[in-house]
Amino acid sequence: MEKKLVFSGVQPTGSLHLGNYLGALKNFVDLQKNNECIYCVVDLHAITVFQDPKELRDNILETTAAFLASGLDHKKSIIFNQSSVSGHAELAWILNCVARIGWLNRMTQFKDKAGKDREKASVGLYIYPNLMAADILLYKSTHVPVGADQKQHLELCRDIAQRFNNDFKKNIFPIPEPLIQKNISRVMSLRDGTKKMSKSDESSYSRIDLKDSADEIVKKIKKAKSDSLPIPESLSELDSKPEALNLLNIYSDLNKSTLEKTLNEMKGKDYSYLKNKLSEILIEIICPIGKKITQFLDDKTFLEKVINEGSEKANKIAQKNLKEIKNTVGFL
Ligand code: AMP
Ligand code: TRP
Repeated sequence: MEKKLVFSGVQPTGSLHLGNYLGALKNFVDLQKNNECIYCVVDLHAITVFQDPKELRDNILETTAAFLASGLDHKKSIIFNQSSVSGHAELAWILNCVARIGWLNRMTQFKDKAGKDREKASVGLYIYPNLMAADILLYKSTHVPVGADQKQHLELCRDIAQRFNNDFKKNIFPIPEPLIQKNISRVMSLRDGTKKMSKSDESSYSRIDLKDSADEIVKKIKKAKSDSLPIPESLSELDSKPEALNLLNIYSDLNKSTLEKTLNEMKGKDYSYLKNKLSEILIEIICPIGKKITQFLDDKTFLEKVINEGSEKANKIAQKNLKEIKNTVGFL
């Protein structure tokens, strides 16, 4: 069987939340058991929107702490910081010349993030998917665990890899496969079930942060939007109730169950019943991670050591691949 090389990245732009955990980190940890894995704190991506330098530095350490607290093992997986390995920026330039403007114009995340005043968005925000392709292809990665919001960027990465291989008539890059969680690929906001849970949402009540205390979790879940009617019997009745569906989905996933089984257990009950059970399981699973994040953050020297060692390992692979890529392009 083909050996998997797993790569993924998380932006250091604020505290990580339940969406990051269920959509990405949990999967990172599972994959590390049987595969070679590379996990990157993508600071070059973060600066596509202005970041205060001190906050950025703190956030890089905090994201690294969240990786470790969620169960990533820096002895098994490579954990590092994107800007420490110059190959990411170098390959991104080459891929900028492979990707077509028309491909980037289709990216919905750029349209969402740039908003109405697109002319004022940074050029980096526009070409960010090419940098993401470079992250993945620099290591010749074969599998990429991400949340559903990144699916379109992964498709672009596949197109770029294919185009490069075709243009240069050489099979340099494997075509990477997205690994998207089936049960809960998109955790939604607790305030609006049609929006994804996000670090950038103004309301902290929209998300559960991994560092939230038990009290905060209880408060946020109590305030979460649900539905005025009791919990329905069938999946189809949830189609028009996105907030209720989101709470049931989160509960099912944390409980390692399915939505069908959860509905069977809860049909006809009030949402307060679900909310109590959900708070309990969140406290059980998320609070220990939050405590570990705080503990790791107390030892910045250790976190820096993890990043430096990881960057050295990543750099070795990157340099070897970059040499071959540059040679293929025709650089001396
Ligand atoms: P980001 O914080 O945007 O760098 O995202 C890091 C990882 O978490 C990516 O794989 C995202 O797809 C995933 N992710 C972010 N928000 C959510 C969400 N609300 N639901 C599921 N996955 C998410
Ligand atoms: N774009 C991803 C996000 O915002 C983060 C990311 C950057 C990434 N490079 C990557 C994810 C490479 C997977 C693989 O969530």
